[in-house]
This record gives sequence, C-alpha cells and structure tokens, in this order.
Amino acid sequence: MSQDSHCDTKKTCKKVYITTPIYYVNDIAHIGHAYTTILADTVARYSNLIGLDTFFLTGTDEHGQKIEEAAALRGKDTQSYADEISGKFSTLWDDFDITNNKFIRTTDEDHILSVQKAFSKMYDNGDIYKGSYKGNYCVSCETFFTDTQLGDDVYCPECGKETKVVEEESYFFKLSKYEKQILAWYEEKEDCILPRNKKQEMISFVKQGLNDLSITRTSFSWGVKLPESLNDDKHVIYVWLDALMNYLSALGFGADEKDMAYWENSVHIIGKDILKFHAIYWPAFLLSLGYPLPKHIATHGWWTRNGEKMSKSKGNVVNPRDVADAYGLDNFRYFLLREVPFGQDGDFSQKALIGRINGDLSNGLGNLLNRVIGMSQKYFNFEISSCNAVKYHKDELKRSYDIIDNLEQYVYNMQFGRYLEDIWKVINIANNAITEHEPWTKMKENKPEEAMATVALCANILARVAILLSPVMPKVSAGIAQALNFEISPQTYIKHIKNETLLDTFNIKPTEPLFPKVEDILIPEKVKEEAPLSKEDLAGLITIDDFFKSTIAIGTVKEAKAVESSEKLLLLQVDIGENKSRQIVAGIRKFYSPEDLVNTQVCVVSNLKPAKIMGIESNGMILCAKQRKKLILIRPDKETRAGSKIG
Ligand code: MSP
Repeated sequence: MSQDSHCDTKKTCKKVYITTPIYYVNDIAHIGHAYTTILADTVARYSNLIGLDTFFLTGTDEHGQKIEEAAALRGKDTQSYADEISGKFSTLWDDFDITNNKFIRTTDEDHILSVQKAFSKMYDNGDIYKGSYKGNYCVSCETFFTDTQLGDDVYCPECGKETKVVEEESYFFKLSKYEKQILAWYEEKEDCILPRNKKQEMISFVKQGLNDLSITRTSFSWGVKLPESLNDDKHVIYVWLDALMNYLSALGFGADEKDMAYWENSVHIIGKDILKFHAIYWPAFLLSLGYPLPKHIATHGWWTRNGEKMSKSKGNVVNPRDVADAYGLDNFRYFLLREVPFGQDGDFSQKALIGRINGDLSNGLGNLLNRVIGMSQKYFNFEISSCNAVKYHKDELKRSYDIIDNLEQYVYNMQFGRYLEDIWKVINIANNAITEHEPWTKMKENKPEEAMATVALCANILARVAILLSPVMPKVSAGIAQALNFEISPQTYIKHIKNETLLDTFNIKPTEPLFPKVEDILIPEKVKEEAPLSKEDLAGLITIDDFFKSTIAIGTVKEAKAVESSEKLLLLQVDIGENKSRQIVAGIRKFYSPEDLVNTQVCVVSNLKPAKIMGIESNGMILCAKQRKKLILIRPDKETRAGSKIG
C-alpha cells in the first residue's frame, strides 16, 4: 500500500478490501473474536480516513457438523440456532460501532450459489475429481489428519479433541497441482504473509508436499449441496471451501461481480490457527478460479487469560461486552492494539488494562488535554491563535512531524503497538514543552505571546493526535476534536497531517472528562457454559406462566440406539403415557449406552417443536444436569407412571 494513495473523489480512489474471518456460530463471541474484528475495523477506519475507497467485510460461518451438533445439544433446529448466534455476533458488532460494509452469512442464498458456481468452475477445469477417503477426522477443526500427524495419539494436534476414523466417498481438489505456484507467490510477494516470519512455516509445510484435499462430506447434511449439474446429492461441500469463498461471494462472485474491483487490494486479517487455510488452500482455490491472490494475509496471535488458554470448561473466557461495559469501548480497543505486538500471543489481565488506562491514557493524553483546556481558559478566555507557534516551537513541530510522517507503514504492517507508541512520543513532545516553557511563568513575566505559542503548539499536537488516534479510539478522538473545535475527516487529515497546516485562530471548548482513571472493577470471568445468553436474556426473569409453557413429563425409554456417524447422539423412543411416544435425538452417547437406558425413566420436555438433528426428526428433549462437560440424566427417584407431569 503506498503512502500517497489519497484521491479527490471516491470514484478515482484506490480501493482496499479488509476482511475478518467469518466466525463459527457454535458459540458467542469472545475476546479473540473481538480482537480480530477491532483490528480489522481499525485498518478500515484508517483506510477511510486517508481517503481510500474501503470495503470492510465480516460475518458468520454457519455450516458443518460442528454447528449441527451444537444446535442438537441445545435441542434446537440448526437453522434457527445459526440465526440466533449469527444475530448475536451482528448485534455485538453494531453495539461496538464496527464499520463493516457487509455482514455475510454462509447460509445466505447468494453465497450458496457462489460456492456452487466456484465448485462447478473448478470441476469443469479439471481440478476436482471423485475418489474415496479414509482418515482421522476432527469435527471441531473440520480437518483430516494423517496417522503421522497424530503419532500414537487419537487427539487432534490443533485443538486436542478426540479425532475419529472416517471413511467416505469424497470429491478431491488437486491441491498438489498448485504447490509450485504457491511457493513462487511466497517468494515474489515479500509481505503476502504478515508478520513476515510466519511465512517460513508455510514454506516448510508446502515443501513437504501437498496432498489433494477432500472437499466434500457425506457424513452429515448441514452444508452447501453440490451444483445440480453433478447430480450427486449425497455430498455437501467442505466447510473450508464454503467459508473461504465468502471473501469472493461478498463481492458478487458468480453473480453481478459488482464490487469485484476491491479484490485487487485485499487484506485478510486472521488468527494464527487458521493461517494454513488462508495461505495454502485459499491461494490454490483462487488460482484454480483464475483470480489474483490476496495482497496480505495478516496473522495475529492468541489471547490467553492470566497465562492460560481460554476455554469454556475452564470458565476463563473473557466476554468482550463485559470488558467494554466495565472499562469503556475505546479504552478496550486501545488496550488490545497497544498491549501486544502484532503476531504474538498476549495475556488479558485486568491489571494490565487498568495500567494502560490510568497510565498512557489518563496521565499521558488526558493530562495534555486538561492542561490545554485549563491554560486556554485561565490565560486566554479559551481563544487561541497558532500564529506564533512556529516562531517559538519550530523544533517541537519538526520533531512531531518527523514521527507522524512515518506512521502509515505501521498500519498496513499491522504494527499498531508501534503506531501507538510513536503517537505517544508526539504527546510527550507537547507535555515536555509545557514543563520546559512554563506558560504560567511566561504570563507572570508578561510574555503572553510566548505562553500562547506553547498552548497553541500543544493544541496543534493534540489535533494531530486526535486525527491519527481516531481509527483506534473513534469516540474519544471525536471528543478531543470537539474540544479543539474541528472535525475529524479525510479533509482534515489532508490539511493537518499531510499538508501540515496549523489550526487557525480557534476557540477551545471545555469537554466532559475524556480520560477518567478507573478503579479495579471486577468483570465476570465466566460465560454460561451452555446457552449463549445476551444481557437482556440474563436479566430476564420468567413468570410461572412462562415456565408452564413447557410440558415436562415422566417418560419410559422403550428403545435406544446410537446415531451412526455421531459420537454424541443417541436415538430414543420414549413412552410418555396415554399411548403416546416421542422420538428424541439426545446428545448423551458419551455418558450413557443404549443398554443403560432401555426400560428406565427420564424427564421429557414433550411439547417442543419438532427439529431435525443430523437429518433425524426429534420431538422432545430429555432433561440432564450438566456437571462440567458431563451430562447426568434427571430421573424420578422411584418408578412413576409414564406421562405424569412435572411441575
Ligand atoms: N470459521 C473459521 C474461519 C473461516 S474464515 C474463512 C474460524 N472461526 S472461529 O470462530 O473459530 O475463529 C475466528 C477467529 O477468532 C480466528 O481468526 C481465530 O484465530 C480467532 N480466535 C479464536 N480464539 C482466539 C483467541 N483466544 N485469541 C485471539 N484470537 C482467537 O476459525
């Protein structure tokens, strides 16, 4: 990305396409998701600020066995479950003022058509063939692993969950064909993968030799069907082909292609765990489709909690909404971007966050703002002129511009830590100028022109800082700009940052304190293990009438068998009295065998709408207690007539 990329009209502007990964809907957003989205939002805001024509995409990844099982475990129909969680992501990003231009869902009709068109195109050009596959499959990562990758283990090398041996007919993509082209791309485009040191991992991986990739599944049905022309409806398309295609389908691939011009300059921001999919599979798919490869694949590290990996079972998942509510959204954004060098893992601790807020923000930036407002009021009735700033502070102005001129490179290398560090050097130039030139002494010495020059220097530095900080801390920066009586926009960016124009004579307006210090507020550490609930949900008590909307009755299990191709599900026929029975798909296979259940009694929610779980109709739900990851059936303590109501 070049530094002189501004333009006069949107039409002639250089385009840039910024994407986040699309998030799985098997759970609500956590701090890792918020980090990727906030990073991408910052790059998008910056791009808009410097006048680029920016398209920013985020969304949700909704197909695959993992989602099907997550819905089943909650007794929900898969589509309604995906709608619910996707809605929660989209609401969170709205509440976080994320500036995405589009929110894509892989269940969108036009996305599905794009994926099918891509599949047909690859098939027609000979890159897809039919075969059969046997391998160790991890449902959670939706990935096959070779025996060598697993060693003597059955556990997934990526996420640690148990893999299972799956044998199925499959269509394959000729990944091996693209080995050389991918290696050539790594070599030619120095910064195609950021940080650059991540590239070596990919080179080694490709050099070991790429196996053709299984790109369809027959073991479950929640996914995009093959194009009709193939007349093979047993298969659904592999989630990663489906998911990666979102980047093109959002621009109109296979339809009107109306936004495809953005593709020329695409920046994918992702986490380190999904680099292989983006830096190997995705380029191969693009080469097969005849599209240019992405400009940058920027890979961030992972957030841990007090040194440990976050996971629901440990109960240490950080909910981004809780952090933003407790500490302020802009402060949270600042912390995420400032605390960890891009590409490295970082630890989320409230202590570190509070340190940043009270130190960098309150003592550094907030103090400068307060001093400018205070002195302008005390000595100049809020009216400041920049006319003597150059005369008395040429050196400080030059030093601040030397730093500012160098900042843009950090943004497109994702080095926000260094970007912010340098902005703080500029803030220090102003704070030091006040200490050194003591405007209060100048006033006593009857040199108001000099005192005014120092206040004007600081106000001008603050204005530049507000502009440059606005992609990271949009609200607070707008507040500083308001105090200095100007607006942050691409025009003021050109005027004050590129053309180095000083503010004219201006009136300072006192503002609400923008950088209050924070106390050590404890935020909840746990996200509820099963149902992802919003704040409204959590606050919502129910009435007895709400409770009695569910009919819960004693049932006797008459038949029980395992659902093939699922480790978690059992299919039960349950007698619920009055000659009625319910077919129920229950996620308890890990804890109960069919023999444990036949002729025993359970508690059944018998008036649930039917739902399809892995293609099988389920007409109720069995009640279980959840103890960590274990499910324990709730049963009457003595034999009870089937159909007896509970309540
Ligand atoms: N659906 C796929 C992406 C498909 S993109 C075509 C996926 N989804 S995800 O919801 O599991 O993860 C989304 C992003 O969140 C990934 O970039 C991942 O790295 C990031 N994070 C998940 N946990 C994280 C942390 N603890 N810390 C930082 N980011 C992490 O993968």
